[in-house]
Amino acid sequence: MCGIVAATSKHRNVVPLLVQGLKRLEYRGYDSCGVAVWNQGLKRVRSVSRVSELSEQISKDQLQGFLGIAHTRWATHGEPLVCNAHPHFSGDQIALIHNGIIENYEEIREELAAKGVQFTSQTDTEVLAHLVRDNYTGDLLGAVQAALNRVRGAYAIAVFCKDDPHRVVVARQGSPLVLGVGDGEMFAASDTMALAGETDRFIYLEDGDVADLMPQGYQIYSHQGTEFIAVEREVRQMEAFSNAVELGPYRHYMQKEIFEQPRAIADTLEAVGEVTPTLFGEKAGEVFKEIHRVLMIACGTSYYAALTSKYWIEAIAGIPCDVEIASEYRYRKSVPDPKTLVITISQSGETADTLAALKHARDLGMTQTLTICNVSTSAMVRESLLRYITRAGVEIGVASTKAFTTQLTALFLLTLCLAKVKGRLSAESEDRYMKLLRHVPKAVSAVLALEPQVIAWAQRFASKQHALFLGRGIHYPIALEGALKLKEISYIHAEAYPAGELKHGPLALVDESIPVVTVAPNDELLEKLKSNMKEVEARKGELYVFADADTGLESSEHIHVIRMPENYGPLSPILHVIPLQLLAYHTAFIRGNDVDKPRNLAKSVTVE
Ligand code: F6R
Repeated sequence: MCGIVAATSKHRNVVPLLVQGLKRLEYRGYDSCGVAVWNQGLKRVRSVSRVSELSEQISKDQLQGFLGIAHTRWATHGEPLVCNAHPHFSGDQIALIHNGIIENYEEIREELAAKGVQFTSQTDTEVLAHLVRDNYTGDLLGAVQAALNRVRGAYAIAVFCKDDPHRVVVARQGSPLVLGVGDGEMFAASDTMALAGETDRFIYLEDGDVADLMPQGYQIYSHQGTEFIAVEREVRQMEAFSNAVELGPYRHYMQKEIFEQPRAIADTLEAVGEVTPTLFGEKAGEVFKEIHRVLMIACGTSYYAALTSKYWIEAIAGIPCDVEIASEYRYRKSVPDPKTLVITISQSGETADTLAALKHARDLGMTQTLTICNVSTSAMVRESLLRYITRAGVEIGVASTKAFTTQLTALFLLTLCLAKVKGRLSAESEDRYMKLLRHVPKAVSAVLALEPQVIAWAQRFASKQHALFLGRGIHYPIALEGALKLKEISYIHAEAYPAGELKHGPLALVDESIPVVTVAPNDELLEKLKSNMKEVEARKGELYVFADADTGLESSEHIHVIRMPENYGPLSPILHVIPLQLLAYHTAFIRGNDVDKPRNLAKSVTVE
């Protein structure tokens, strides 16, 4: 949520690089954006439009400076209005940008108001800007440190002041922030991608770090108690990629990412030779032997990946598996069992609720932790004992697609490893499952070829207001994921049910106006599913069925069938989710929605 970029240079105007960085970070939030520079004092341009329009405004206003900070916002406190857009100023002294939430901002606001401070926004961020100024006596670093001793919550911030044309102070606690080291210049950003092409030397700040950046160098301090102790952090030489930001022949990132899935799944399996626990970390063998339960924790689409894999883990590895929504788990009283493998699943590895849930589980004494994640440097990976990094590549579309199918790939591999360690996987089964898994990229390509048929359905869906999704067994979480995709980008109200539940309530919704999307693999539940479809047909519901070839399901007056290329046994969920992604994408596109930036949402939810 929210993207930040900061730069201080000895020799060049940093505004173009700040704007470029914002364009690459726009996926993190797009309610408003802004840039502030030091140029004989504080100057800024803010907008509630997209970064491209901000850029035009910047050219018109000829905003330039050797030092600047930039922000793209996902609104939490205060509506998306220019007055709430960052950077926030405190008078003409302090400029500040912030990603996160300051939890005790109201009490600080009251204190500052009592001292006569005037507020121009509803944000928690402006309070922090004034708090820095309240502590400022000519030493910006000291003022930021003093302010941070007062605040509670999550933040990544960048601050500069009128009296110091070269210094930017940045800090992080719970929100991501990376430093970039240049020649005669220093940078900071929420994601290395923002700085691609500017430097190949990066420092990942740790929670509680404050860094004092000047063009000629930097010093990092670690916040310990109320003290700030100078520390060294590793400088990593690496290439930051921005090519993920190129759309190529696609209209949207979501479309591009849907079509990247065969490659993403193949890459996720690339380093996999045999089925061995060490794929998940050195200690995985011992840990897998010791545990007798699995607890998975995640949010949104990653939660549905977890729900899907519960069916695999229980059926193939024979290990009891619970799946929890992170924001629920972290606040409820549960019964901890130290012999549990706690698995967090996350595309970003920064989702605040999942990260907090992981720490909560550990605080309860469950130290056998594993994260399945798409970002190797993320907080969740760093906090976990074991990890598996999916190789989806950067996912920019807010609606998660390739992250989901690569998570499922990793989770199936995990299932096989657990089964092997528990003595439940014969050599023959291992061979059969691995062959199936390695064939998935090809099978996904065949499903992607169904796009023209899905577009024809999307034309009809575009005018609907509601949709129902049905699945059974391991395809019920796939129906949930299909409904989530449709609602988040097309804004059509969509609900998913296990088909057997229809008659316990939701059947009352069915009439000729509601499309009922049905996931129909040829599995042991097919006959049961067919009976549920009859219940819909009898109420004149319109069925849209993704059916495996040998199900015997044919199109008729109220049943529309798209035939899936092949039945894929236990890995069928990975194939069946693809047409649901395409259906959501094309429906949203036909409705004229901003597919990659659906309203009210943002990629990577780093606030609670
Ligand atoms: C939906 C979507 C979200 C995320 C959720 C968790 O398309 O993308 O539901 O899955 O916010 O995010 P991560 O996986 O980064 O923890």
